Amino acid sequence: GVNTVVAVDGPAAAGKTTTCLALARSFDLHYLESGRTYRIIAFEAIQRKIPVENTRKITGLCDELITESRSATLLTSDRYEPETLRATPVNVAVSTVAKIAEVRQRVTSLIRLWAGAQTRCVIEGRDIGTTIFPAATVKFYLTARPEVRAMRRVRQERAASYENVLGDVIRRDEADMSRASSPLVPAEDAIRIDTSELTFEQVVSRMTAACRNRG
Ligand code: C5P
Repeated sequence: GVNTVVAVDGPAAAGKTTTCLALARSFDLHYLESGRTYRIIAFEAIQRKIPVENTRKITGLCDELITESRSATLLTSDRYEPETLRATPVNVAVSTVAKIAEVRQRVTSLIRLWAGAQTRCVIEGRDIGTTIFPAATVKFYLTARPEVRAMRRVRQERAASYENVLGDVIRRDEADMSRASSPLVPAEDAIRIDTSELTFEQVVSRMTAACRNRG
């Protein structure tokens, strides 16, 4: 298409959100956090006591949420506090919800619809450059050693303990990389950045340079 789409994928706590926000500001892009949608579905499943392993019921819940949200789409709904969506029960449930192919199909459609309405956007997730926008303008795959990612997240969210965060990061990476439906894998043409030894400014400056060259 004619739209500018910057795709930022990578494992949990790799710094996707902070770097995407910086790119959004520099290049005047609309920003979408695609993981939020999977988190909303997981949160609602927990609230309604629907077991996340029940594919049929979770798919039904997903359809219900999409219908309910109508114009204020599920992707950008402000009904949910970020802290609620980042709480431990949601972290535990979200990858199970995200491996359901029927759920992924629906979320994929929503994201494509959202992006179609923007001229220029940056989207973070796990499958943006591989499945959702294989023809994205620029693709990044951000990663870092699990210990580094866990430590950064602990500094960011004071309450969490290092062991718990590291456990969550490793468990979700494994689930996201091993699922059958659009697993987390770098797109062949993605610019891979291991941020383990880099500062936030260094990461953003590399990404900015790549966007200037290709955008
Ligand atoms: O990005 P975030 O950590 O909030 O994503 C939460 C979970 O949502 C991921 O661990 C993954 O299971 C799922 N997800 C996904 N595809 C995306 C974005 C997130 O499967 N594009």
